[in-house]
Amino acid sequence: MFKKTLLAVALGGTIVASAQAGQVEVMHWWTSGGEAKSIAVLKGMVEDAGHTWKDFAVAGGGGENAMTVLRSRAVSGNAPASAQIKGLEIQEWGDLGFLADLTPVAEAQNWETVLPSVVSDVMKHEGKYVAAPVNVHRVNWMWANKSVFDDNGLEVPTSLKELWKVSDTLKAKGITPIAHGGQPWQDTTTFESIVLSLGGADFFAKAFVEHDVKTLESKTMKTAFDEFRKVKGYIDKGAPGRDWNVATSMVIKGEAAMQFMGDWAKGEFTAANKKPGVDYYCVPFPGTDGEFTFNIDSLAMFKQNNAENEKAQMKMAELVVSPKFQETFNLNKGSIPVRLDQDMSPFDACALAAMDTFKSTAKSGKGLVPSMAHGMSTTSAIGGAIADVVTDFFNSDMTSDEAVLKLSRAIRANQ
Ligand code: BGC
Repeated sequence: MFKKTLLAVALGGTIVASAQAGQVEVMHWWTSGGEAKSIAVLKGMVEDAGHTWKDFAVAGGGGENAMTVLRSRAVSGNAPASAQIKGLEIQEWGDLGFLADLTPVAEAQNWETVLPSVVSDVMKHEGKYVAAPVNVHRVNWMWANKSVFDDNGLEVPTSLKELWKVSDTLKAKGITPIAHGGQPWQDTTTFESIVLSLGGADFFAKAFVEHDVKTLESKTMKTAFDEFRKVKGYIDKGAPGRDWNVATSMVIKGEAAMQFMGDWAKGEFTAANKKPGVDYYCVPFPGTDGEFTFNIDSLAMFKQNNAENEKAQMKMAELVVSPKFQETFNLNKGSIPVRLDQDMSPFDACALAAMDTFKSTAKSGKGLVPSMAHGMSTTSAIGGAIADVVTDFFNSDMTSDEAVLKLSRAIRANQ
């Protein structure tokens, strides 16, 4: 400490700044090109505030690997100061007593007023803020390479019927219609958009929030499985196991025409210097215009036993909700800011469209649904059980009659 103080004085820093310096270790899975640029923004801001950043990145889209590592760290009494934990998992960690109370920061920054309740509700455990909201991602997007569509005289599909027609045309020309990564979370990401397209928001909520047996075993759900299987006819042989950002780069390069993915995919287009409307199209997943499947990223804070590190952690929570961070991070990440009062003028047409639909669906209470594939509507156990059925169906000759029964049973078994 003495040496540190001397160094601070030598560098023109103040003794106070040095005494307050702490370290925040942050666990996340933001490792793709666009994701890494985004998290670097937070690292820079934490360091500018005089604290040390310890990066704890665990690669793997969707965060399954990260959650496994986090559990083992926490069990051995060595949890990081902060971790990217989302949705209902925040409640699971809160119930176990691991999370810190962020009320002082939330009050000072007026989170109750600046955040929409759909965001703030997810951040609280037993009425107390325990996580800082980073962004809102929209999951029900489709990304399309503009030249591929223009050169082939094709219009971007707006319904499932049009989607299969366009895909047939592209396939006949030897172009891979759909870039897909065959990993369970990517399968469920596509599947949930198909469910939303066919059944609408109320049906989606009945199935994935309420877990209503009739809805899960309905004809519409059976059709959703049938439509999902059609995707298989339009992907390339390299799809199994492929990472989502590799699939995005196929669309960026024109090696495939479309990808179904949340708007973290836009972060990859942005990192590659591509512009919406010029190089690519961002459109709602066919048949889901005016609907919004939300996936909110958040950094949950773990209880600390070192006062300086706790100060650094609280400072980071404050920075996350600041307008400056919300702007720079979300421009890189592809998502929209969490603040209702955010100046949206630096954002592109995709983000403006997302914000518009987010606000209008939140206001009307119609069309806004929590993502099942990204842990917003169900516990990790139920989410995992659904993913097993969806992926198993996609990769086998299971009938859709069998699939709906398996789905409904898997959910009940994990309730
Ligand atoms: C997260 C995103 C992330 C994506 C791919 C999602 O579950 O919410 O922030 O970019 O997974 O890793």
